[in-house]
Amino acid sequence: MDAYFKITKSPKKQVYEEILPQIVSLLEGEDDLTANLANTAAVLKMAFPTTISWVGFYILRGDELVLGPFQGKPACVRIRPGKGVCGTAAAERKTLIVPNVEEFPGHIYCDPDSRSEIVVPVLLRGKVQCVVDLDSTTLGAFDETDKVYLERIAARISDCFDQKHV
Ligand code: SME
Repeated sequence: MDAYFKITKSPKKQVYEEILPQIVSLLEGEDDLTANLANTAAVLKMAFPTTISWVGFYILRGDELVLGPFQGKPACVRIRPGKGVCGTAAAERKTLIVPNVEEFPGHIYCDPDSRSEIVVPVLLRGKVQCVVDLDSTTLGAFDETDKVYLERIAARISDCFDQKHV
């Protein structure tokens, strides 16, 4: 397992370049959805220990998003599509970068120390399966680089929903 966690201190883009193949290796040959989501959250938290205060998944179950594997403080469990950053990203099926959560109408405060956030939907054949949510206690922590790489990670996660064993 240790082989997966070789993360050196580098700019954000290089860190993503390092962890992307490691996440692909972790997911390859494993069809347990919970294990795959849990390991992906763990790698992201390890890769960005100071930037990310919370990282995890909200899985679409029926007509609501339900908390899945995550790293960080306990969080709200159920979010309606269209509500908060997570629900809006799911409803609009697009990545949302929120540089200042106070300026996002309807932002759901799970952690009062959260200042910025990015949410990336995971789609399978055009349908939302879950969202990946990353929070930071720093304003403006997430940008286009995060969007590009997290969307690549989301594409790998999408494969897990195609073959899921919950
Ligand atoms: N802030 C999110 C809720 C989830 S927590 O950040 C973990 C939102 O507005 O949807």
